[in-house]
Amino acid sequence: MNIERGRTKHKLCHMVMGIAATLFYIVPSFAKDGAAVYETVCRVCHGTGVMGAPKYGDKPGWKNRISKGVATLEKNAIIEGFEGEKGLMPAKGGRSSLSDEEVKAAVAYMIDAVK
Ligand code: HEC
Repeated sequence: MNIERGRTKHKLCHMVMGIAATLFYIVPSFAKDGAAVYETVCRVCHGTGVMGAPKYGDKPGWKNRISKGVATLEKNAIIEGFEGEKGLMPAKGGRSSLSDEEVKAAVAYMIDAVK
């Protein structure tokens, strides 16, 4: 009896995990990807403000940039990079293997933090 119950629980557990795993892949995890890209690529500069990079979470530092429009920021972060008054933002943060979508997600992630 007890063994049987244990098995049922075990099966149920697998089912729940299966569903969770499926959801994880189906649901577009935009914010999550953005966070991951930020952590692995962008944080090096944007975490501490290296070379004049606007810091993550620094509202005044991002205000004027956001007023240019998100599309402009995405373009500057993706295509040719951006050379501003403070320094150089390399295209895709220097990681050319990133897809445009990944860079956009990271831009969104940083903008979300200063809204
Ligand atoms: C090697 C350092 C470095 C890395 C890595 C880096 N950035 Fe930057 N980023 C900068 C600097 C410096 C600036 C500011 C340039 C200026 O305004 O003078 C900047 C500016 C920006 C801006 C504002 C552009 C604008 O038009 O004002 C965005 C958006 C941005 N970075 C996104 C990203 C994203 C997304 C990543 C990761 C994929 C990333 N950056 C990785 C250095 C970096």
